Amino acid sequence: MRVLAVESSCDETSASVVEWKDGKFSVLSLVVRSQAIHEKFGGVVPELAARSHIEIIHTVVDMAIQDAGLSPWDMDLIAATKGPGLAAALIVGVEFAKTLSLALKLPFVGVNHLIGHIYSAYLSDPHLRPPFLTLIASGGHTELVWVKDWYGFDLLGHTLDDAAGEAFDKGGRMLGLPYPAGPHIDRLARTGDRDFHTFPRPKIKRKGYFFSFSGLKTALLNYIRHHTGDFIRRHINDIAASYQEAIVLHLLEVTRRAWEDLGTPPLAVVGGVALNSRLREVFRMSFGGKVIFALPQYCGDNAAMIGAAALRKYDLFGNDGQEVSVYPSLGVVEP
Ligand code: KG4
Ligand code: ZN
Repeated sequence: MRVLAVESSCDETSASVVEWKDGKFSVLSLVVRSQAIHEKFGGVVPELAARSHIEIIHTVVDMAIQDAGLSPWDMDLIAATKGPGLAAALIVGVEFAKTLSLALKLPFVGVNHLIGHIYSAYLSDPHLRPPFLTLIASGGHTELVWVKDWYGFDLLGHTLDDAAGEAFDKGGRMLGLPYPAGPHIDRLARTGDRDFHTFPRPKIKRKGYFFSFSGLKTALLNYIRHHTGDFIRRHINDIAASYQEAIVLHLLEVTRRAWEDLGTPPLAVVGGVALNSRLREVFRMSFGGKVIFALPQYCGDNAAMIGAAALRKYDLFGNDGQEVSVYPSLGVVEP
């Protein structure tokens, strides 16, 4: 079974050809084009994202098919991300993929972007099988999901305000770093002192596995206000390291509690923030051989993870057909 998958939920236009054979996924091609246009606005502008997807999607899909050494008629299934994400951006991918499936007379499957991120774990460790715990940490989401079987998910906890990636991006913006700031903070922090300043640990009253990053963001803003611009510039590496440490330790603390309560199952860490080098270090120290990180090429938004999820979804539930719409605020557990 071979799928051509499209991802266009935010500011990456991506296409990929993925196969499922003898109980194993093979990624035959993966093309990802990131939109640089949003950098000067300090965040993603939905209208511009949709326009950029329209301009490039046919080229990206064409490249994915060619890189796989195949033709469109070699596919068995077409898939696209149906949500969550930016409505206008999702529509481009879903409509393009649906039209392709109609022209090629192939079934079409709409994939939940969050389930896609979970499937990046299978692409990264071919031996991984449910059940396992997943931490999804990206620019839009911070969630703990119990993967009970191939397509059965329980949402155990989530952020009560900002996502972890948002904490990196908004904090970085305050420090004058380009968007997205996560990779810049990571780089600066490597030569910084993480004990330079202790940012407060989030206090969460609600019982369960919840995250909160908005207090941390305010603490950084207050810190910047109470110091001169020159001091901030001279200690930018130390401040980045201290701020990053607070984010990473909060992710670790909540995840560790859920992991222990569940009896220490395998733990997958996925999404853009899973690229963070300090996060990888402390999670490896804390969870040892039980932790699986998405491979770097599958951490950020990409169509390979969408293709993998589509293959299993089609196998279990069949064709979605042309009725699929876009669902901008879809959760990991679908209604
Ligand atoms: O998964 P992703 O590409 O898109 C979403 O679905 O949101 O995640 C993007 C997020 C951004 O917030 C970005 O700053 C963050 O991942 N990110 C990082 C690193 N690389 C990307 N955060 C911390 N450290 C990194 N090395
Ligand atoms: Zn994502």
